[in-house]
Amino acid sequence: MPEADVSKKEKNYQADVPQENHGFFLKGSGNYDWGMKNRLARVFNPKTGRTVMLAVDHGYFQGPTTGLERIDLNIVPLIPDCDALFCTRGVLRSMVPAGSTKPMVLRASGGPSILKELSDEQIAMDIEDAIRLNAAGIGIQVFIGGEYETRSVHNMTRLVDAGLRYGIPVMAVTAVGKDMVRDARYFQLACRICAELGAQIVKTYYVEEGFEEITASCPVPIVMAGGKKIAEIDALTMAYNAVQGGASGVDMGRNIFQSDTPVAMLTAIHKVVHENMKPQDALELFESLKRGE
Ligand code: R5P
Repeated sequence: MPEADVSKKEKNYQADVPQENHGFFLKGSGNYDWGMKNRLARVFNPKTGRTVMLAVDHGYFQGPTTGLERIDLNIVPLIPDCDALFCTRGVLRSMVPAGSTKPMVLRASGGPSILKELSDEQIAMDIEDAIRLNAAGIGIQVFIGGEYETRSVHNMTRLVDAGLRYGIPVMAVTAVGKDMVRDARYFQLACRICAELGAQIVKTYYVEEGFEEITASCPVPIVMAGGKKIAEIDALTMAYNAVQGGASGVDMGRNIFQSDTPVAMLTAIHKVVHENMKPQDALELFESLKRGE
């Protein structure tokens, strides 16, 4: 039993001060429950509304991708410099220190390897395991226009239902088949379908023409996927243009971990995303960090 309140101090209810109703900073996310919002606020910085997520999940279908041969040696040292890590549960359990307080977004789909039809995916993790691992979010591919389009959409909606039961946001990744056109019209379609069917975050690629219309027509936050390794200035420009065009940050992999100085690239991307640093200035920062200055 708690002790009786015997304080002689007069109680102060501050009855003249109305209790504040807190809004929520993230696009389209104001009507979620507290746990869902709290997880989103761990992934996205509430001050800027943006995130720099480091994507290292490639092994789930590609095996030891260049730059990810030794996640313990190459990626774990980068964790303090990203806002969130997008990885598989296998990597999380085997190599990510449990003392890390960074939010972990877990890859929750899988099945085919690069040797097979990639759209033939299934949900590859129980929601209970995501909870057990204290996931801040879960991610899944959606193959709009792909051979197994309907199945991948259904995978996503089942994952969203599971996530809603426990307050775990789902990031839908718009996966584009090899022969499909990567243009604004396609990504508008894919992103909107993912959001309409319940994804709380959509990850998609940057396109030079019409990216603003993709973000404008998607009612939830979009994070930009990086794609294959390009020159640092081009990757920084792409990230800059994406956030200026309405993206709520990035979820980049190869352009960070395949850079010859990943930590410098991550720092430069961070400045672009959270401080609107211009690409040329970010490149100079990258170069100076690379020189060890
Ligand atoms: C998504 O399908 C992949 O598994 C990666 O998460 C995604 O492609 C982002 O990584 P990158 O920037 O290397 O394309």
